[in-house]
Amino acid sequence: MGALRALGRALHQLGQLPLSAIHEEATVARLGELVNAVSAADLGMVEAEYSSRMAADADNDIEFIDVGEAENFTMCVFVLPPGTRIPLHDHPGMIVFSKVLFGELECESYNLISRESSRALMPGKSASRLMALGLNLPRRPGPTHAVVEPNQVDIVRAGEMRSLTPTRANVHSFFSRDKWTAVFDLVMPPYDDEAGRPCTYFDDVCSTGADLNKPSSPGLLQLREVPCPSWFWTKRGVYKGTPL
Ligand SMILES: [Fe+2]
Repeated sequence: MGALRALGRALHQLGQLPLSAIHEEATVARLGELVNAVSAADLGMVEAEYSSRMAADADNDIEFIDVGEAENFTMCVFVLPPGTRIPLHDHPGMIVFSKVLFGELECESYNLISRESSRALMPGKSASRLMALGLNLPRRPGPTHAVVEPNQVDIVRAGEMRSLTPTRANVHSFFSRDKWTAVFDLVMPPYDDEAGRPCTYFDDVCSTGADLNKPSSPGLLQLREVPCPSWFWTKRGVYKGTPL
């Protein structure tokens, strides 16, 4: 049986189980082994087809290939042209395996400690009038931060895999440096806004400087929540690998 089929079969068997069972240590370890066995060929990925796109007129978009999904997981491949980045983002309550199929990925990751929401005055003309009347101002949630502990900046080479858990390396970014790079992701469970698992982006520590990242205690950083950066988007690629 091919590696991808074996992974698909294991995921199918887990399909009826609650998330807590899927996140059990032994199950996670087994799934990690299965993800690690998946190759570029299993997923229909040919490195030369991408590296030959290096002509000046080639676009520079990151490609997203949907491999398969179910209630408890999603599988996909991101193909990053040289010098492109997936910005700092989180995986709330998830376990994620990322296997580099070809190329080389620089992964910057942080361990999530907590999420914090500051409170801010409601903006608008009414604020000063309400203050003049001595009334309490209506308040609403202000900027939201994640309190994190730096984990590592790691180079993940072709054939290598990394994983994250709800607390370890749960906020991360990917950068492809100077090679076309493909990374296969198994995400358990998938993003789901209604289930409280939205994707949140954060200011990149490297690009914003220290003023936005005031340590709340030694060794910790605050990452400011931001909208999805305007420079980041993906185009849809076609899945040509083993049918699941
Ligand atoms: Fe991610």
